[in-house]
Amino acid sequence: MSFTVANKIPAGVAAVGVAVTSEGALPKGVSLSRKTLEKLGFAGKVGQTYIVPADKGAITILVGVGENAKLTAETLRKAAAALARAASGFESLATDLADAGRIDRKLAAQVVVEGIALASHRYTDLKTIDKKATKLSEVTIVGVGAALTAGVKRGVVIATATNMARDFANMPPAHLTATMFANKAVEIAGASGLKVEVFNKDQLIAMGCGGIVGVNRGSVEPPRMVRLTYKPAGAKGKPHLVMVGKGVMYDSGGISLKPSDSSHAMMKGDMSGAAAVLATMSTLKALGCTNQVTGYLMCTDNLPSGSAMAMGDVLHMRNGKTVEIHNTDAEGRLILADGLALAAEQKPDAIVDIATLTGACQRALGNGMAGVLGNNQKFIAQLLAAADRTSDKLWQLPLERDYRTALESSVADMKNVGGEAGAITAALFLDEFVGTTPWAHLDIAGPMWSDSDSGWLQKGMTGYGTRLLIDTALNFKRPTR
Ligand code: BES
Ligand code: MN
Ligand code: ZN
Repeated sequence: MSFTVANKIPAGVAAVGVAVTSEGALPKGVSLSRKTLEKLGFAGKVGQTYIVPADKGAITILVGVGENAKLTAETLRKAAAALARAASGFESLATDLADAGRIDRKLAAQVVVEGIALASHRYTDLKTIDKKATKLSEVTIVGVGAALTAGVKRGVVIATATNMARDFANMPPAHLTATMFANKAVEIAGASGLKVEVFNKDQLIAMGCGGIVGVNRGSVEPPRMVRLTYKPAGAKGKPHLVMVGKGVMYDSGGISLKPSDSSHAMMKGDMSGAAAVLATMSTLKALGCTNQVTGYLMCTDNLPSGSAMAMGDVLHMRNGKTVEIHNTDAEGRLILADGLALAAEQKPDAIVDIATLTGACQRALGNGMAGVLGNNQKFIAQLLAAADRTSDKLWQLPLERDYRTALESSVADMKNVGGEAGAITAALFLDEFVGTTPWAHLDIAGPMWSDSDSGWLQKGMTGYGTRLLIDTALNFKRPTR
């Protein structure tokens, strides 16, 4: 799908999307009255569209943007998504949507592109029939000014990265092993100006990464850890942010085998955190990020076998701490622990990890938002602000240190599970590996996938966290306590 900017509707375009507010005068050229449109079920509300039939020339698609005074970036993103769905049968589309409302031109153009590109995305690699792919391939954003062009460019970079994260998460386990994913990361790093290092099983053993190696024990596929490094011009002295992504290529639960319900098939997406980190890293140069950013992808399967880790086994983690296994399905925290310890050794200004970590977080917050917990409120505030701007929604849960007793072990420094508040105890486990570095943990088990096509989401894996982390990296400031 290509996006261009033009100051007028290009000749020969198949469909024209026209923004319509829910009150006030209709835009020029709309031949129907508000009364008639309302009878036809179109009141100009956000997400509504109405195709005005015509035999000749371009088809007009009215797109609701709601009340003018209440128009936000998210309104435009949603309206653009609805327009893309209504226009999916046409090859070309032009729209003035970025001109609706009073929000900043650059941002408006960015979010309109995001809405269209995200709502048009399909994972079709493995379909041989009924591809259901959108016909839409050429989109013109109508308007003038350098800000508009810059916003379109930014929107394309951000949406492309998000769709890439969705594709990786949608890929079945056999189509994307840890080794293949690391190879992809090397390719992507080369194309996006990043330094990349790949660590294999022997190296991980030599480095003392008992968490990721332990989780990998039941698997035939070897693990991979990938470190991606982005340094802007004059990097020295620039704030440094590290991102650690959970890359469980497939989570069967291990010896603590999961039941065979339909949600089990979603566990191919248990590497969504790592996918979001890789996708984010791939945009930093193109978006002119002025901060230093390091990304860790912690990749392995979690499978049962004769060599798998067992309950009662004790793992030696990168930071020297020992962990007694009480549930092999609590594997995400074990692989993150090594990544967090390595991240902390770099003495960065902050660490953020992103992980499909607990069903508890999903049950608490649903599929519409992720949970955030951490040891530094200033840094958490930066993430919450990024969530506000991107609508990758976040809700803070408390890092209640009184609950740490639930992780006490009689043979090791701690157990890998315990207690009632599953999202909180998981975060308390991670807290053991970051030392005093400002740190926040994103639990994305809920928003990892969507049940339906809705707004700018498509049914399937969402790429959640990509837009959130891009915004966070671009706006990152050294957090003080
Ligand atoms: N990958 C799962 C968490 C998950 C659940 C992600 C639902 C997406 C949707 C994680 O590894 C897991 O199995 N967590 C366990 C932890 C428990 C054993 C303490 C869980 O949530 O049941
Ligand atoms: Mn698990
Ligand atoms: Zn998992």
